[in-house]
Amino acid sequence: MISSRNLFLSHVGQTSTEPLLIEIEKAKGIWLYSPDGKKYLDLVSGVSVSNAGHCNEHIITAVNNQMDKYAHLMVYGELVQSPQVNYARRLTELMHDHFETVYFVNSGSEAVEGAIKTARRYTGRSRIVSFRNAYHGSTMGAMSLFGDQDFRSQFMPLIPGIVQAEFNNEKSLSVIDDSVAAVIVEPIQAEAGIINPENDFLKTLREKCNKSGTLLIFDEIQTGFGRTGTLFAYERYDVVPDIICLAKSLGGGLPLGAFVSSNKIISTLSSNPALGHITTFGGHPVSCAAGLAGLEYITENELHLKSVDKGKRFRKKLKHKEIAGIRGEGLFMAVKLSSAELASRFIEQGTKNGLILDQFLFCNDSFRISPPLVIKNEEIDYAVDVIKQTIDEVR
Ligand SMILES: Cc1ncc(COP(=O)(O)O)c(C=O)c1O
Repeated sequence: MISSRNLFLSHVGQTSTEPLLIEIEKAKGIWLYSPDGKKYLDLVSGVSVSNAGHCNEHIITAVNNQMDKYAHLMVYGELVQSPQVNYARRLTELMHDHFETVYFVNSGSEAVEGAIKTARRYTGRSRIVSFRNAYHGSTMGAMSLFGDQDFRSQFMPLIPGIVQAEFNNEKSLSVIDDSVAAVIVEPIQAEAGIINPENDFLKTLREKCNKSGTLLIFDEIQTGFGRTGTLFAYERYDVVPDIICLAKSLGGGLPLGAFVSSNKIISTLSSNPALGHITTFGGHPVSCAAGLAGLEYITENELHLKSVDKGKRFRKKLKHKEIAGIRGEGLFMAVKLSSAELASRFIEQGTKNGLILDQFLFCNDSFRISPPLVIKNEEIDYAVDVIKQTIDEVR
């Protein structure tokens, strides 16, 4: 009989020549289970998706209840659908007063596309500033913002007018002038290897944008939904962007994206011309029901607040000669090993030892620690033990 792995390799489009290739049958909380009975502790959360835990009962109930009523009815934006209305209302209630309106889409990349289209139309300008080592998605517009010139050059021509600045380098912000429609930035750079903003970098960026009439877009697609210890990372730095992009944990495990802003800014897309951004499945009612249930679960159980102490517990216990440092906030961390070579051996062996692990697009000497926020203290201690044992095995 042909194995599922071989069928996967033959018939499912591949993103690389080295997929993890572990088969998963079911998942619960922070654990993934393979058909042969092996279990894996998830230190990735599907890249910051499963913040409320895998197979969260509240999310399952919300999905089932919504499926009993309706799934898709009509393209986004025409019919009044209560899952979208309820979710948009609750999200905006929990965010700064500036955020009044949620434009739902399908994914993070689409949220970024929508945000930059909105900024161009709103300002009447075309240039966009992004940052080196940023990742904002894989569609052509989002990829044009990609923070690596060599990679981008393989897909040229991309959208023109993109200028790159350097994260945490205030001098590089001199590229922001009154020809720039928007600056897009991750408040903590994720795929760069979890790089925190230093000093008042984000405040300086906000001031620069204010001076030049440029919209400031925060990509909180990985940092959102409690991962860094606040519901959204912008709260940590006391900087309110003009537009915020959300996805990943927004859908509680189902596909959903959104860009959120003031009513005035978001309404740019609905006239002159109307239908400035249309999306069939944007704000899918089942995804919205799942996302709202996930958000309520996080806030009611204060998982966002608890992730601060959980992150500290990892940091305190995760000490080893080969660990050169730990970056990040809350349960959004990068562990730097002494070399890139050790990091790749670690990932390979760690998977054999029952951990789901991942490196970063732009930082190959580090691995991420971003488990579901429901992780318990004893599970943190277990993860730390396996990490240390694995480092010993591969050093
Ligand atoms: C910071 C950030 N922005 C945007 C995206 C794109 O999201 P999606 O894969 O849902 O299109 C990602 C995906 O990893 C991301 O990490």
